[in-house]
Amino acid sequence: MKLTHNLRERINYKCIKNCNPEKRKETTNNDICKVTKSELDKLPVRCVGNWAYQKIYRLNQYFGIFSNGMKNKWNGLNYIELCSGPGRCILRKTGEEIDGTSLSILRHPSFNFIKKAIFIDNDETIIKILNKRIKHLSINNAYGIIGNYNYTDILEDIFSDFNKDFLNLIFIDPTDCSVPFKTIRFIKEYFKNVDFIMNFPYGTDLIRNIQGAATNANYPSRIKYLQFLGNEDYFDRNEVKNLAISSNSRKMVLDFFKEYIKNLKSIGLMYSESELVRNLYLLLFASGNPKGLEFWKKSQNISPNDQREIIFS
Ligand SMILES: C[S@@+](CC[C@H](N)C(=O)[O-])C[C@H]1O[C@@H](n2cnc3c(N)ncnc32)[C@H](O)[C@@H]1O
Repeated sequence: MKLTHNLRERINYKCIKNCNPEKRKETTNNDICKVTKSELDKLPVRCVGNWAYQKIYRLNQYFGIFSNGMKNKWNGLNYIELCSGPGRCILRKTGEEIDGTSLSILRHPSFNFIKKAIFIDNDETIIKILNKRIKHLSINNAYGIIGNYNYTDILEDIFSDFNKDFLNLIFIDPTDCSVPFKTIRFIKEYFKNVDFIMNFPYGTDLIRNIQGAATNANYPSRIKYLQFLGNEDYFDRNEVKNLAISSNSRKMVLDFFKEYIKNLKSIGLMYSESELVRNLYLLLFASGNPKGLEFWKKSQNISPNDQREIIFS
């Protein structure tokens, strides 16, 4: 099933292809390729796995239904992306370049219904690249800005440019489980009317480290996971300790995920659902409004491969 707009696919013949994690230490910097630039605009590209397409597809499907369905029900709609990247990716397996999440949204036919869009990343170089790309699109209600999900005071400054009466959609796309839950709480409290799509990247580090984090108080990523989850005592609970001894890491991740959903509910994000992307992460939708969930379900009916995938359960 194709998107309603194309992602400006191009083959990049200079891509070395199939760089493994070791090789990528030489060929990339913060995942930005040092070997080749975009065939389309000669700006740097982000090296990604093929599954990136699924994320972009699912985000765009929701964005279309959300913006069309809500445009007349609110005074305005805003879009925010936290962890925006530079706007264009290169699939390391095939050497094919495509628009990343930010550019795909800016080029979405329904972007017209958005009053303002902000793209946040903590890497200054990435934001400079993205802003050049936004300039090429001649869009004047969107910009990239440096920000960090660990600092809510900086986010507050950035958000002050938004009208709080509007409905907001925020997409959060980190590479690991390091976005603190306090940031999610802050965003929900700040905007009130905000729907979230979050990358829940359990497959990149959580699944490998959760047992260690649960059984060893000094384990390096333990504090990161506790801050991500928002429960300081999670690994001290007897049932979690028992699970770590008697069970496998997949079951532990599932328990951790259920706890996360509980925490989302506690801050008013009552309605949530997730889609699995290649055993690596879940695209998690969360809203305080049942209509949001209805739209999400509708938008995810057809998977990027034209078939339903197994939902994490
Ligand atoms: C998975 S990539 C984003 C990819 C992009 N959304 C796309 O699909 O085209 C994650 C991004 O998060 C940024 N990042 C890492 N730590 C961050 C932080 N603390 N605050 C904000 N952005 C961060 C990285 O620079 C990187 O560009």
